[in-house]
Amino acid sequence: MPHATSTDDIISTLNLKRKFYESLFKETNTLRKKLERKSMLDVCADSVLATVFMEPSTRTRLSFQFAMTKIGGRVIDFGPVEATSTAKGETFEDSMRMVDGYSPDVIVVRSKVVGAAQVAADICSTPVINAGDGTNEHPTQAMLDLYTMQKARGKIDGVKVGLMGDLSHSRTTSSLSYALDQFNDVTVYYIAPAELQIRPNVVASLKHIQIEKKENYESIISNLDFLYVTRLQKERFTDPAEYDRLKGSYQLDKSSLSKYQRLPFIMHPLPRVDELNPDIDGLPVAKYFEQAKNGMYVRAALLKRIVSE
Ligand code: NCD
Repeated sequence: MPHATSTDDIISTLNLKRKFYESLFKETNTLRKKLERKSMLDVCADSVLATVFMEPSTRTRLSFQFAMTKIGGRVIDFGPVEATSTAKGETFEDSMRMVDGYSPDVIVVRSKVVGAAQVAADICSTPVINAGDGTNEHPTQAMLDLYTMQKARGKIDGVKVGLMGDLSHSRTTSSLSYALDQFNDVTVYYIAPAELQIRPNVVASLKHIQIEKKENYESIISNLDFLYVTRLQKERFTDPAEYDRLKGSYQLDKSSLSKYQRLPFIMHPLPRVDELNPDIDGLPVAKYFEQAKNGMYVRAALLKRIVSE
């Protein structure tokens, strides 16, 4: 298949418009219906996806790989970092140049370095999808988060969302904030202890949504449509003592939630550590496993769009 141009790169949600999400979700629903009837399609036969994960991943890597396989394409994985020349000291730039040289149709890349996905996109003639660059962004997570909200609530306009947890190190909440900013009459509550609050550069990039910062969820939970929880990002703390001090500073369990008459849908990008007690998994409002499953369909629609352009 001919390569698409690099205008198909998906690096950030800052430059994605409402129309993009609307047509992506329409395609997601169409593909989903087909995949529920038939477990493999051939809409992307002859296309190859390369997955390059320089940081741990379960859902993002697997859902991209399953998505491409189920729409008929093939997947080549870069492999665990220890098994590659990265372990011998090869630079990220050289590795990306090599992957691009083997001519995949799309590359998904994750790195712990802020800006790495853009670096990869600048090097590669193949379209690059950012699957997380350090604390910066995770645009396809925001796509599946919005899709989950739309499915649960019917629309995004007018939504009230609480984003709770380690917002200072989170890439999912920055990408989701930018994505929500495309919709009308949206309110976002950033719920975190002061040390973990949302980064000022994220807030500075928001043009439309109403925002409010809160130390805890108790006073606003009943007003929310969604409470989106994130884990404390242990690997991003430079001081382990600071991590230990903040550990356990926000937790949801069945007994703490039983005080409220009305509960929002509860979302989480996963993995969870101790912020969501498994005793809430059976609540009808617990959406996080469905959210993760939605990711495969949204990514299938995105891959199809990129390889057929
Ligand atoms: C998130 C990530 O990698 O940013 N996970 C994911 O992709 N679903 C969240 C996290 O690691 O906490």
